[in-house]
Amino acid sequence: MVAKITNYGTIITELHAPDRQGKNQDVVLGFDHLEPYLTKHPYFGATVGRVANRIAKGRFELDGKTHTLAINDGPNHLHGGLKGFDKMRWKAEPQAGAAVKFTYTSPDGEEGYPGALAVSVTMTLTEANELRIDYLATADQPTPVNLTNHSYFNLAGSGDVLGHELWIAADHYTPVDETRIPTGEIKSVKGTPMDFTSPQPIGSRFVQLHVKPVGYDNNFVLNSGGKGLALAARVREPKSGRVLETYTTQPGVQLYTSNFLDGSLTGKQGFAYRQHCAFCLETQHFADSVNHPNFPSVILRPGQTYSHATVYKFTVT
Ligand code: BGC
Repeated sequence: MVAKITNYGTIITELHAPDRQGKNQDVVLGFDHLEPYLTKHPYFGATVGRVANRIAKGRFELDGKTHTLAINDGPNHLHGGLKGFDKMRWKAEPQAGAAVKFTYTSPDGEEGYPGALAVSVTMTLTEANELRIDYLATADQPTPVNLTNHSYFNLAGSGDVLGHELWIAADHYTPVDETRIPTGEIKSVKGTPMDFTSPQPIGSRFVQLHVKPVGYDNNFVLNSGGKGLALAARVREPKSGRVLETYTTQPGVQLYTSNFLDGSLTGKQGFAYRQHCAFCLETQHFADSVNHPNFPSVILRPGQTYSHATVYKFTVT
């Protein structure tokens, strides 16, 4: 495999994985050079933080104090705000083997978040065709933290992903309102289009979702409960035989099927990125956890260490 990663947003710009004939193909969306990454794009390949996903109305209470954050998604805060970790220049240091450690210190008050947060993201390409991402963070004040990687995968390397077969190790999901904020319920996937407990083509139940733009943009509650590194999802692309397994220590995964892409962004090799041409498996804590005491907590306190890992492993069938 080949991985190319930039210190701007720690963006994975290229990820080449073999098909069943051994032929390598770039399987992530992105751009050929830096400039388009500096303009508006939907977080292609980036580390997202300080808090990935949505926070209702950009408000939360912590230890009796109300905090207000940048609003950048309708009425809500999304993916760290106007200038999140995806738009920061990180320090890059090579590690032993095929690995790079990226570090960034988010200052107190950045995008409205309390306390300074020192973050490291180490990306390692292993001999087992895995891209492993290790996240560490410490804070000097209590603060919410929820880090993820926002890679857009297409295991065929082109076309749409509707026929990719997806399995998710989740018996439950978190239903959302019309602004995609969780209602707080943890619902069974049984009998719903959220049921990926047996492999299903990604696009086979889009019509049952009754959302616009159509497609998945949902958080799944992983059966592992975020206890240890566990298999969260498997995606198989029938033609190439490529299989992507996602392992994570996180309790949730947001499945996003690039519903908002509309062909107006031109990516690598001149490809127009159309709706449903990729899927994201954003391993993370649930959206708006700061406002739902029944969800696993995202609060990091001084003296504690935030530590999570996600592994994207490529095989073939
Ligand atoms: C969100 C989508 C959003 C996309 C790109 C996903 O994580 O769930 O609603 O459009 O990121 O910003």
